[in-house]
Amino acid sequence: MPSSRTIPLALLIAMAACSSDGGGASPAPSGVTFPPSFMWGTATAAFQIEKGDVHTDWSKWTELTPSKIKNGDKPDDGGPDALNHVDEDIGLMTQTGQNAYRLSIEWGRIYPTRAAMDADTPDADALAAYDSEIQKLRNAHITPMVTLQHFALPDWLSDVTQPQQPQGWERPETKDLFTQYCGRMAKHFGAQVDWWVTINEPLVTVVTGFIQGGSPPGLALEATRAFDVARTLARAHASCFDAIHAADTTDADGDGKAAWVSVAKHERTFHPDDPTLDDDVQATAHVRYLWNLWFLNAVIRGDWDDDIDGNYTGPKDVKGDPTLANRMDYIGVNYYSDTIISAHRGVVIPVVNASVMQDHLDTGRPKTDVAWDIYPEGLRLMLEEDVKPYGLPVVITENGIADRSDTNRPRFLAEHLYQLGWAIEDGVDVRGYFHWSLMDNFEWQNGFCPKFGLAAVDKATGARTLRPSGNEYKSIIAAKGITTKDIAALGAYVTGDFCP
Ligand code: GCO
Repeated sequence: MPSSRTIPLALLIAMAACSSDGGGASPAPSGVTFPPSFMWGTATAAFQIEKGDVHTDWSKWTELTPSKIKNGDKPDDGGPDALNHVDEDIGLMTQTGQNAYRLSIEWGRIYPTRAAMDADTPDADALAAYDSEIQKLRNAHITPMVTLQHFALPDWLSDVTQPQQPQGWERPETKDLFTQYCGRMAKHFGAQVDWWVTINEPLVTVVTGFIQGGSPPGLALEATRAFDVARTLARAHASCFDAIHAADTTDADGDGKAAWVSVAKHERTFHPDDPTLDDDVQATAHVRYLWNLWFLNAVIRGDWDDDIDGNYTGPKDVKGDPTLANRMDYIGVNYYSDTIISAHRGVVIPVVNASVMQDHLDTGRPKTDVAWDIYPEGLRLMLEEDVKPYGLPVVITENGIADRSDTNRPRFLAEHLYQLGWAIEDGVDVRGYFHWSLMDNFEWQNGFCPKFGLAAVDKATGARTLRPSGNEYKSIIAAKGITTKDIAALGAYVTGDFCP
């Protein structure tokens, strides 16, 4: 594969430098306000909060490869069991003034077998449970945002015991079956739902499944297979987008649009390990392109960089491909933290030719319980530099912190929302913010130790208890804004209580 060196060096240096300073934004405001129609919510994912999602690859993964999950945790053992706590959870939302909620529907719960998928005989209990939850949200004036695929796949499409065979998104039938599922769900729920996320964090699926090995199919450093899946996910999003728009023609929210469709795209900031090394600077610009821009260029502009090398000169590259372009009604952005890139140090990923460091960064910034940097400025910088140029509405579909003691979450929330408000002042058209998460839940390969909830969950009873950060969110929502004076009154960050 041609390297990032096909991009002029001066441009690469300018790109890499962008995320390291104020990015040319307006001066820091003393306070920010949010539009009256702003969506204030929290986000969750079915497999992380439900019990009994047994017809999924993730369920098999936790059963068959417990060594891959911290402490061998299993979602059915101590998880929030959300489908049996809908009223309490909606209570938490209304108590804090939230007016939106991002949930996901589990494909393998709706269609537990391939035969059920083929015959279109969805599980009646599963549909009824989601129907009831969505109706209750609507009754409480909470706008539902529905994710159709959040990491887990039906086990009849992804066999965790055969990782060397094509699995999940690699199987030739998966994209078309997913598209069918999208159309059916949009038809079934469309009268109640306008906001859709097709696929959660498509590139995280690729990295954890094929580079890091922490999720099905559990392969390490398989860059070629990883890139194949990335291409499939972009095309699967585009066809799901079309299927949703064809099936959901009811404007449930009365804003003149029946369906708002996006992915939840994990976006980060990137800095070179050694800014004086050209190799590191170039590697940083290349990874930033791969991670933040490649997918969005494809499904917004139709600019298809098939060989994923940073230019459009490859034999299968296309500019303005009409089968991919304009497949985002808004940009759903998940933002968590910063990344350090090196061309030499750490585990250098083949084909990408860079190592990617996301935790325990040597930056001097405070850290979360999973050792990610707390970097609120990064949210604004990333939005202004990498998202605003697409000119679409934006929704923060996730942003949150692992913080067992809730020491850092109030300030984390306030500072991220301040930066978000500042980005809005600078012209980023942000329509909503969904904090990850409403309640503590199963954090994939990290099990139950990281606590992302505004509410704690009692492992034995499932009872929820709102944390002080829940009240902080409530105050910001009530004020529809935040000032630097409010932030100064909050406790300072404390680092050190990492998850074992
Ligand atoms: C992701 C997912 C969530 C996580 C959250 C915290 O980003 O990995 O969308 O499922 O739980 O991001 O890590």
